[in-house]
Amino acid sequence: MKLAPSILAADFGHFARDAKRLEVAGADYLHIDIMDGHFVENITFGADVVKAIRPVTKCLLDCHLMVENPEKYVDSFAQAGADSMTIHVEATHHSHGALQKIKAAGMRAAIAINPGTDISAIKHVLNLVDMVLVMTVNPGFGGQKFLPECLEKVRELVEIRDFQGLDFEIEVDGGVDDQTIVACREAGADVFVAGSFIFNGNIEENIEKLRAKLL
Ligand code: DX5
Ligand code: ZN
Repeated sequence: MKLAPSILAADFGHFARDAKRLEVAGADYLHIDIMDGHFVENITFGADVVKAIRPVTKCLLDCHLMVENPEKYVDSFAQAGADSMTIHVEATHHSHGALQKIKAAGMRAAIAINPGTDISAIKHVLNLVDMVLVMTVNPGFGGQKFLPECLEKVRELVEIRDFQGLDFEIEVDGGVDDQTIVACREAGADVFVAGSFIFNGNIEENIEKLRAKLL
């Protein structure tokens, strides 16, 4: 099981410093939230920030694109050094083609679904992806309340993966803390994103608190 701290909650003036600190503290993936102000209300940053972080860490750079038409940005993220690119099924008419493009660019490809989206929307791309991101808040902002009803989709994905003999990871994102992570683990998630819980207080201690719940 993997921990993926979200740098959305980091100090925007010191991404490289915080990325290094998260790696040393035991992060598996660094979760990088890209928001365009269209697909979601908020605007964060783009491939240039990925490029700036790349040289300071060996962690897998897990780029979560909350942007419309994400297929337009595949090349720039690959060139910036992203390892994994997650696109939202709600953000493109061409999720299958976009995922193929991500794989062809040499990255891991992942598909994300919002709380209001059913698993049926992604069933035809499950054979293509390395990871499915189940949002456990509505995307756009850190620090929101965890939505436990989304875990039903994690359980469904575990069943489908077993039944079809697939091997994608299941990631949960939004409102994950040292309490809600237990329900996520029990539902069958493999990768746990956490932003505000990790950055609110001592980063190393908070990562340890989450890790302890995964043992
Ligand atoms: C929300 C982002 C999340 C966010 C999680 O749209 O996708 O990755 O950083 O933050 P917390 O852990 O604070 O809910
Ligand atoms: Zn995210």
